Amino acid sequence: MPGYPVLPEGLAYGGDYNPEQWPEQVWREDVRLMREAGVNLVTVGVFNWGLIEPQEGEYDFSRLDRILDLLHSAGVYADLATPTSSPPTWFRRRYPGSRLVDREGHVLGGGSRHSFCPSSPDYAAASERVVAALAARYAGHPALAMWHVHNEYGWANSHCYCPASAEAFRAWLRDRYGDVGALNAAWGTTFWGLIYGAFEEVDPPATAPVGLLTGLQLDFMRFSVDAHIACFRRERETIRRFSDLPVTTNFMIPNCKPMDYWRWAAEVDVVANDHYLDSARADPHIELAMAADLTRSVAGGRPWMLMEHSTGAVNWQPRNLAKRPGEMRRNTLAHVARGSDSAMFFQWRASRYGAEKFHSAMVPHAGTDSQIWRDVVALGADLGRLAGVRGARVAAEVAVVWDWESYWALELEWRPSADLRFRERIEAYYEALWREHVTVDFVHPSADLSPYRLVVAPSSYLLGEAPAKNLHRYVEAGGHLLVSYFSGIVDENDTIHPGPYPGALREVLGVAVEEFHPLREHETVALRPPKSLGLGSSRPESSQPESSRPESSRPESSRPESSRPESSKPGATGRIWSERVRPAGARTVQEFADGPDAGHPAVTRHDLGAGSGWYVSTAMDAESGLRDLVAEVLDHAGVSRPRGLPDTLELVRRGDHLFLINHADAPVTVDGVTGAGVLDDAAYGGSATVPAGGVVVVRT
Ligand code: GLA
Repeated sequence: MPGYPVLPEGLAYGGDYNPEQWPEQVWREDVRLMREAGVNLVTVGVFNWGLIEPQEGEYDFSRLDRILDLLHSAGVYADLATPTSSPPTWFRRRYPGSRLVDREGHVLGGGSRHSFCPSSPDYAAASERVVAALAARYAGHPALAMWHVHNEYGWANSHCYCPASAEAFRAWLRDRYGDVGALNAAWGTTFWGLIYGAFEEVDPPATAPVGLLTGLQLDFMRFSVDAHIACFRRERETIRRFSDLPVTTNFMIPNCKPMDYWRWAAEVDVVANDHYLDSARADPHIELAMAADLTRSVAGGRPWMLMEHSTGAVNWQPRNLAKRPGEMRRNTLAHVARGSDSAMFFQWRASRYGAEKFHSAMVPHAGTDSQIWRDVVALGADLGRLAGVRGARVAAEVAVVWDWESYWALELEWRPSADLRFRERIEAYYEALWREHVTVDFVHPSADLSPYRLVVAPSSYLLGEAPAKNLHRYVEAGGHLLVSYFSGIVDENDTIHPGPYPGALREVLGVAVEEFHPLREHETVALRPPKSLGLGSSRPESSQPESSRPESSRPESSRPESSRPESSKPGATGRIWSERVRPAGARTVQEFADGPDAGHPAVTRHDLGAGSGWYVSTAMDAESGLRDLVAEVLDHAGVSRPRGLPDTLELVRRGDHLFLINHADAPVTVDGVTGAGVLDDAAYGGSATVPAGGVVVVRT
């Protein structure tokens, strides 16, 4: 990685800095305040194209020169952005063919950012020119620490349906399939007789009268990722002609469904992410933790950069809630705990104009006599004390499978139930693991799984043969796999694996599903320990006599009540899904007590090789049995974790730093903590009390 870490020392602290919105006397006040808060890095120039190239080919860098010089004189580094996410107004007028066309065929309007087609040759030429001019001018500027290409690729203009996109899509398909026969085979076009005679006959999947070929839709999504990556590469290579500093772009993990960030990760020198709290949620910090873990995983476990988050409310949610006391600090430190080497915000000073004037900032409209500013200054001090965590890694014994292609495929139209949502199940399992104080990595299903004791696949609808074999080998070698329903159903073309569901996972899970029985909206089904020992189909296939096997491998109902697994406690329920599971090697851990599959397995376990494959065929939630089931599987897999702590305490170890983040309104005492307090200079000898809403970091 060229030049990483980006700063000579410590964690990076700052935000997007848009001084062009302010008169110059404010800039001097800005840098004074940056120093007061301990800010050492700001992102500049993100939306500057119209300012530095006011007319095509005419450049004016005078303002940016002064800004960068001023930052340098104040000892603040610049993360210099290329301005290509917001083309100037002249560009749109001059090159109408570059305009974005949506699925319904509307040409989208101007007066906004991201309003261009990623496959437009005119956009490619114009953006390359401005980036070359920028990089040539500033490559050697002493303020520069890194390059920030564009802004949030593929968020607002993820898919374009214009003629240029259609041409580029056809070229992409030619490249992928070679001949149109291979395309027809992959997409299964004999269905409805939609056989393509030539690549020229393929159009992007615009709104159609009724259900579209799903293979066409998936390939268009893949093509669109590549179209944006091509834009990034063009800019990165242009910068490389002039500069060796690290180059990145800000991802939006996990809130930009169209971008497959596993594919993006290899393109950047350091992974950078923007994350905004979803304030409508009951416990938004759990989604934040998931975002941070997924970002770290996309970064391959290496430190990453939190490029944007907010000091308080955003402006684009239905109700933009201010952060509660201490919440900004908890949010920032949770990102750092989970691997970020920076804490950056959108934005430094709140805007008076335009679409984002009600968005919070480090310097709010209220000025420095405000809680936000006092918190910003205090956070700078915290981050200064955390300098020693830079570069440290986070270790995880559990991995959760996340595949963007499965996300796209699961949510295409005409699935067995509208309640099948990719993130719904992932978040349910993630929450159960978070509340069990287990730190997880995320993995692509074809990744090396050997570092993990347990792999959880809550939403792997699309699973190719090779990744499925990878999971199988992992279990045989001693891994433990926990799979939720509607996984392993289709291959990468959205074609159903042959035979009973879940085709790709049937053998590893030791089950066959005869029929899906999706539940009505709000309908629930009860679960119970398996009643009938005599049910041949739910008995494990084993030649060992019952009594000679260890107790943990005996059917649950033959065990004494006290040793029954947690998940078999009465009260577990499922929603959304039920299905007729026929064990084919697996044993029943729980069965449906009612609903369409009453008396049939709801949760199964298959001992295979040195490991086990668990299958859950309904939607349990943390408080309706999932937490208990997850605890049971964690125990079975031998995953270590602290016990007896409230499930509102976030506990993460990063290198030799132990982060304890208390999300509750009462203090928590954590035993077994010995070391030096990093934020508070306390010496912890055996236990630490974390104040209500507070954070303790101990170097152990
Ligand atoms: C994104 C963008 C920023 C700003 C923020 C507001 O992350 O990158 O320019 O619009 O959202 O939350």
